Amino acid sequence: MKTVLLTIDGKKVTAREGEKILWAALDNGIYIPNLCALRDKEEPAAACRLCFVEVEGCSQPVTACTETVDEDMVINTKGPKALRLVRTGFELLMSSLPVDCAHCAKNTLCELQKIAHHLGVKLKTKRFKKLLRELPIDSSSPVFIYDPNKCVLCGRCVWICRERLGIGALGFAHRGFERVVTTFGDEPIGESKCRDCSECVVACPTGALTFKASQGIVKGNLG
Ligand code: FES
Repeated sequence: MKTVLLTIDGKKVTAREGEKILWAALDNGIYIPNLCALRDKEEPAAACRLCFVEVEGCSQPVTACTETVDEDMVINTKGPKALRLVRTGFELLMSSLPVDCAHCAKNTLCELQKIAHHLGVKLKTKRFKKLLRELPIDSSSPVFIYDPNKCVLCGRCVWICRERLGIGALGFAHRGFERVVTTFGDEPIGESKCRDCSECVVACPTGALTFKASQGIVKGNLG
């Protein structure tokens, strides 16, 4: 396996030739916010727009999940142009999500909490007007609960269900603010093609897909 030598945030690191910047950074202990990337997905969707970094010689920030590493590349994950884009994207995203971490089964494991901490911003943004969708929660699966209100539309669950597992129980419907992950015909997950493998739950970066067992733990904790 050929490797390349590059610099990320002043640290000399090696990465597999052809690797994306995102994985090279994460593998070397350098965090870059990300919601939609999956390592085995060869064509990144680049949907969340949170992985912007600055690359020496490039006039504009690039998405780390789509850009390939190069020999002697110099990357700055904390450059002002990249950070401005990431912070704005994150705050915009949070303006359409409910924030109730204390009652969420993903509390402390949620990628949104990690990103907010990394960026030094609050989950409850004041910069943009809050606009919530108030969609019904689907608890028809025997194993997990789907709360579309907490979905960031990263597409990980859809891709895993369809491409990695070949099941295709989940897909996207509608456009713009109405866009949602749902089943064919919008039927309850428990009545769909879903086989309860729960790979989608494991991949979900937020509290949109959570195990019923973990919901019980949260409720139990609250007494
Ligand atoms: S991880 Fe790069 S755009 Fe989402």
